[in-house]
Amino acid sequence: MPDHPDPALLEQLKDHLRVYAETGIDGFNPEAVRGARRLAAAARGESKSRARRTEQPAPSTQTSLFAESLPESVRDSSLEEIRDDLGDCQRCKLCQDRTHIVFGADNPRARLVFVGEGPGVEEDRQGLPFVGRAGQLLTKMIEAIQMRRDEVYICNVVKCRPPGNRTPQEDEIAACSPFLLRQLAVLKPEVICCLGLTAAQTLLQVRTPIGQLRGKIHSFQGAQLVATYHPAYLLRNPPAKRQVWEDLKRIRSLLSSP
Ligand code: URA
Repeated sequence: MPDHPDPALLEQLKDHLRVYAETGIDGFNPEAVRGARRLAAAARGESKSRARRTEQPAPSTQTSLFAESLPESVRDSSLEEIRDDLGDCQRCKLCQDRTHIVFGADNPRARLVFVGEGPGVEEDRQGLPFVGRAGQLLTKMIEAIQMRRDEVYICNVVKCRPPGNRTPQEDEIAACSPFLLRQLAVLKPEVICCLGLTAAQTLLQVRTPIGQLRGKIHSFQGAQLVATYHPAYLLRNPPAKRQVWEDLKRIRSLLSSP
């Protein structure tokens, strides 16, 4: 360790610690910290090809590290505790225009979790995810694989509506996604279905286009992760339903296998 650590690095570290503190994480598992150091060293060795790294799905060890680095008290917390920690959230500018925080809904014991991008106007009004037009299509997608909405859990990357339904910005995702990660760590689903680019890129920590992320099975914290097109995109582009049907069949078979 140099005598005078880089001030920019110190600022980044402070930001990370602030996010952990705000999301209720108050300690670290020393094993996971050692693992993080090993990963960081390995990453430095690979830094020659930054472009290639951003285009590849993150290795599963990198994502599982997050779950391992959560102290047991957080991993074993409940969705209610996570909701309490979120409180009347003012962590990003999306709080200014929201009516309701849309935390997530339906079955907390679900084997399958859908992750969308962020609430729209109807979700903001009702405080529930996917209850507008895109939500009606999502219900049909769920029923197409012989499941009901009350058998799955549905949540979003950001919990407050971005104005005009724009894509959430990086700072908004950074402020909100720790709560999504905690929800997933508590839900421990077998399969996660990312609806659209924002969810897939956020969980897989890549910048790969959705067309390249779909059609594969990824891994995320012990769950199998399938990315597909967002139902709002399907409303604008019905021919993409054919590919989404392939993705849904893949999810059905993952849930059917022992
Ligand atoms: N779109 C999303 O991504 N999430 C919702 O909850 C509704 C629409």
